[in-house]
Amino acid sequence: MNYFPAEPFRIKVVEPIKMTSKEERKRLIKEAGYNLFSLRSSDVYIDLLTDSGTGAMSDYQWAGMMLGDESYAGSKNYYNLERSIKGILGFPYFVPTHQGRAAENLLLSLLVKDNDFVPNNMHFDTTKAHVLHKKGIPVDLVIDEAYDPTSNYPFKGNMDLVKLENFINEKGKEVIPLIILTITCNSGGGQPVSMENIKGVSEIAKKYNIPFYIDACRFAENAYFIKQREPGYENKEIREIVKETFSYADGCTMSAKKDAIVNIGGYLALRNKELHQQASSLAVLFEGFPTYGGLAGRDLEAIARGLEEVTEESYLSYRIGQVKYLGDRLLDAGIPIIEPPGGHAIYIDATRFLPDVPQNEFPAQALGVELYIEAGVRGVEIGTVLAGRDPKTGDHDYPKLELLRLTIPRRVYTNNHMDVVVEGLKNIYQRRKQISGLKITYEADILRHFTAKFDKI
Ligand code: F0G
Repeated sequence: MNYFPAEPFRIKVVEPIKMTSKEERKRLIKEAGYNLFSLRSSDVYIDLLTDSGTGAMSDYQWAGMMLGDESYAGSKNYYNLERSIKGILGFPYFVPTHQGRAAENLLLSLLVKDNDFVPNNMHFDTTKAHVLHKKGIPVDLVIDEAYDPTSNYPFKGNMDLVKLENFINEKGKEVIPLIILTITCNSGGGQPVSMENIKGVSEIAKKYNIPFYIDACRFAENAYFIKQREPGYENKEIREIVKETFSYADGCTMSAKKDAIVNIGGYLALRNKELHQQASSLAVLFEGFPTYGGLAGRDLEAIARGLEEVTEESYLSYRIGQVKYLGDRLLDAGIPIIEPPGGHAIYIDATRFLPDVPQNEFPAQALGVELYIEAGVRGVEIGTVLAGRDPKTGDHDYPKLELLRLTIPRRVYTNNHMDVVVEGLKNIYQRRKQISGLKITYEADILRHFTAKFDKI
């Protein structure tokens, strides 16, 4: 079964990585307060913290970096990126930003007023934080299957259209300034959203005259899943699916650090000219002149070229195939993951992996610490630590799932690296009864997961 197509590239630059000893890692993670974010990356062997800004650029992108036109205004790279965004996504206007959350800041600052509600299939943490920062209320309305780790539903990222329409009717469209759809759905396991659902959300948005935006970080991975799984799309080109996806939306926020395969950058793309003018004015304040948006000309060029490369089917079948390779090996070993494997990461279900560690002892964080000690692999907790506290009650805002995300950087690791991850997890699984939880000794008020400190219980 050839479900892992070999890399459609060969490697011409390498970066050495080193394996530390188990004793060293025990000391290093203790010094880091059992927070994986506090480790130095040079002390990590295989870094699966994120797929954001960690990809390997191609020779075509690097060549484009040499063509950076570092003019303050109107660089040729801005116009090249405009051509990519118009040609591939179909949006007439855009503002470059230094990364995805900056695009969220521009859009949400312009649209969200105090006590407004923002429905999303599932908010990513920066989107949620930006809605809260604008004094709005983020609401997740994903389908119920998303919360069932063993459901093999093909589009577990879908918005629940009934919940969405009921919500609009209950609260009133006046207090809903926009609807967001995150594709793929990162917080729900990198699960895709079907074209039927994208269209369905847009129809509801139109019916109630509410703007509809896509959080597009992983739009190409989503398009590949549509091609694989949605009847009627099997013979379409990825570019056609991408065009159709965005044709239903009023705009998108993009972290180019994901599906534009660059190390920094983002943009806000729009259909509305007036909103584009307002976003450009705000950009001057927060990002820079609107034709560079906090980036260098060379960065804009790399994004323009990355958008071309990420929509090639040979790349996507290798990319999604590698994530599936890791997922299938873990399933073969009986290790509980969110099924089916997602687009950019495998999410270990820590609740089932460590059933004896209660939620208030952060099982996914404890598992992440254990995997680092065992194999030098760094994942990231997507659970109670990340969720933070309920602003009203001050209690932990317990999420439905406790996950350890193993996020695969684009074009960086081979399947031998994936095998190391599998072996490490298998060893831990055998001694899982001896693993204890953690307690927090320090936490910040917002986005506490980045800096929290823990002790072993
Ligand atoms: N939206 C989604 C769905 C994301 O996954 C991210 C980032 C952002 C927005 C923000 O983009 O980092 O460029 O400002 N996700 C990274 C991750 C950090 O690890 O999942 P950014």
